[in-house]
Formats: sequence, structure tokens, C-alpha cells
Amino acid sequence: MSAHILDGKAIAADLRKTIQAEVKTLTAAGQRPPGLAVILVGDNPASQVYVRNKQKACEEVGFLSELIRLEADTPQQALLTLIDTLNQREEIDGILVQLPLPDQIDEETVIERILPTKDVDGFHPYNVGRLVLRMPLLRPCTPKGVMTMLDHTGMELAGKDAVIIGQSNIVGRPMALELLMARCTITVCHSRTKNLTDKIRGADIVIAAVGRPEFVQGDWIQPGATVIDVGINRKDDGKLCGDVDFTAASEVAGWITPVPGGVGPMTIATLLENTLQAARLHNDKT
Ligand code: GUN
Repeated sequence: MSAHILDGKAIAADLRKTIQAEVKTLTAAGQRPPGLAVILVGDNPASQVYVRNKQKACEEVGFLSELIRLEADTPQQALLTLIDTLNQREEIDGILVQLPLPDQIDEETVIERILPTKDVDGFHPYNVGRLVLRMPLLRPCTPKGVMTMLDHTGMELAGKDAVIIGQSNIVGRPMALELLMARCTITVCHSRTKNLTDKIRGADIVIAAVGRPEFVQGDWIQPGATVIDVGINRKDDGKLCGDVDFTAASEVAGWITPVPGGVGPMTIATLLENTLQAARLHNDKT
């Protein structure tokens, strides 16, 4: 194996320690701790795990953390009314509605109801627009966490060719905007992309966010490239794997993220970072 491992678990642990120390400083100065409300509608098993991990991470760093569980058949209006209440509550700095939502609820309507300064997911059109305009406020957690990891490589990003596989609102699109802001040349690939492997072979940085187990092959990777694997898939044998064939890709890449222990822990640590940022926004206003 030739690649350096980008250890998301370790970077995330450092970030959480820094946040914990900042919460102690805030509370020692008589300020309230940052507060995050997480809303889970229904009982999607993967969402339940994600939400539990987010809540645990909040408690560890000393945040106020509130989990609100709603029945799968909750009407959209009830969710919107709940968000209105949370928007008003002073001790709540961040509101996260776990996605996906049941069919009777429109995700965009829900996201737009969250106060932009409490939108710790960075999904509100206001926050997306600010990212487009290179004046980011609250930034989507996974792409921002990836930027933190890339920073740890010490690599100069300006001028690099970055290929993003996947065009979702949660990862692919904001990832493209982050890398563009860092002055990379970006290519966003999706199911209709022609000559995908040629595009990946030309990339200095590959971001895999397709949701297909071990889709990216080792011989698609340019020697020395940085490979960021955002995928979390379960194989037939029950083991977790990413969107990249790690064993083969790590023979050629310069840097690579493992799954598990790569991007996943960074997403959660970045959510904490965003919640602390939101708390500062709210405190500065008072
Ligand atoms: N579902 C999958 N990823 C995410 C995320 O980052 N935020 C929310 N709210 N839901 C998700």
C-alpha cells in the first residue's frame, strides 16, 4: 500500500476536543451552552442510528441537545409549526431535520421554514446561495468536513483538477462549490456523464459520493491522487464499505480516506462546529 491514510476519526476527535474546550470557556464566562434540536420523523433505521450518533456527540462536548421524535404519518403542517416554535426558542441555536422525510412532507418547504441562522445543515437556500456567492455562512457538514480533511494533507488546492461523482444537494453540489471556492477546477459527474472513467483518471482529487459499493476501481485513480470516499454501504457479508475499492485504490492513491473512520466522523464533528458557530451568531446579536 502506498497511500497515506486520511484519518477522519482522529481529525474529528481533535475537532471535538477543541469544541468541548470552547464550550467550557463559554459557560465559565456565564454564557449558555450551544443548543441543538434534532427532529426525526418516522423510524427509518439508518436515520435512527445517525440521529443517535449526533445526539451523543452533542452531549460529549457539553451542548444542550434535544431529540424530537414524530410519528411517520405526522402532517407537514405539524412539523412546520414545531419548527416555528424552535425558531423562537432562545436556547436552541441549531435545528436539524433528519432526511429523508416521509412522502406526505415536502423537504424543501421544511428546510425553508428553518431560520437561516439556525440551519446547521446549511441546506436552506439562503445558506446555499451564500456559498455560491463565496460568502458562506453555515456550510453543509459533509463537504465542509471534507475541506477540513483536505487541509490536513497540507496540499495546495488552487489549480487542482477535482472530480466529484454524485450531484446531490447534501454532498455533490455543495462539495463542488467548496472546491471551486478553494480555486480547484471542478467536474461534477452523474448518471448521464460520458466517459466517466476518463474523467476520473484525469483527477488530482476524486470525491466519491454515488452510494454504490466499491464502484470506483483502483485503476481509475491517477497515481498520487487524493481519494475522498463519502459512501457508506453495507456489503452482503454485513461489513461496511465505501464507494471506492479501497484495497486497490490505496495501492495507487497519494491520500485516501477509509470507510468507516473517514468522512463519517467528520460530518458529525462539523455539525458540532456549525452549531457552535450558530450559537456565536445568536450571542453576537444579543
Ligand atoms: N440525511 C443524510 N445525511 C443528512 C445530513 O447531513 N443532514 C440531514 N438533516 N439529514 C441527512
